[in-house]
Amino acid sequence: FTIIKANYVATAVNSSQYPAGDLTEIAFIGRSNVGKSSLINSLCRYNGLARTSCTPGKTQTINYFSLTGKLPDESRLEFMLVDLPGYGYAKRAQTARANWSKFIEEYWLTSPRLKLVCQLIDLRHPPMESDCNVYRWLVAHGLTVQVVATKADKISKSHILKHSQEIYKGIDMLNLNPEGRVLPYSIVSGAGRNELLDVIKNILLK
Ligand code: GTP
Ligand code: MG
Repeated sequence: FTIIKANYVATAVNSSQYPAGDLTEIAFIGRSNVGKSSLINSLCRYNGLARTSCTPGKTQTINYFSLTGKLPDESRLEFMLVDLPGYGYAKRAQTARANWSKFIEEYWLTSPRLKLVCQLIDLRHPPMESDCNVYRWLVAHGLTVQVVATKADKISKSHILKHSQEIYKGIDMLNLNPEGRVLPYSIVSGAGRNELLDVIKNILLK
């Protein structure tokens, strides 16, 4: 499954601004600075498509990108990637944080074409309470969640499995979603890219 086209489509802060159309949506969520926008650029092989920053709180709106993928038989699949603001950014005022989660919650609850949520967690650290709460909430609302462990290039290869298992245990995947798994990813080495594109392809073909 190869990506042959990627375009910016729209920015939204409420449901009236969501783009029209019937493309399946794949959304990206995670703590601020975990690498959501970078991962979208890495999947598209298009640096600068989604804006990234080394300071947390960069993405503050819901951003839609349309992608076209090509299957080995040359047929094409069009779908949407959705970049969302991060959670757990302590420096933000309490009220703004409440607003944020409200419009993100609105997105989860009013997006019938949403078929997969990629929840990103930093592979270097055990999941934080906010990660566990978000994971539990998504699964409880019937959403299909793929956990992606980011920045895999920042730890040694021999530790990747152990850290992935800590995330699996930390968010209680065994009880909440036993079929789920943790996929390590690095935008630097490209590790995990083919695997995640495969997950997306399978969702689109379902
Ligand atoms: P917000 O929009 O603020 O919520 O952040 P975000 O989750 O979109 O993070 P963003 O993609 O802006 O990336 C944050 C920082 O992490 C940037 O400096 C990226 O270069 C870095 N980063 C993201 N993914 C990786 C990775 O796989 N490896 C390494 N080494 N750095 C990464
Ligand atoms: Mg971002």
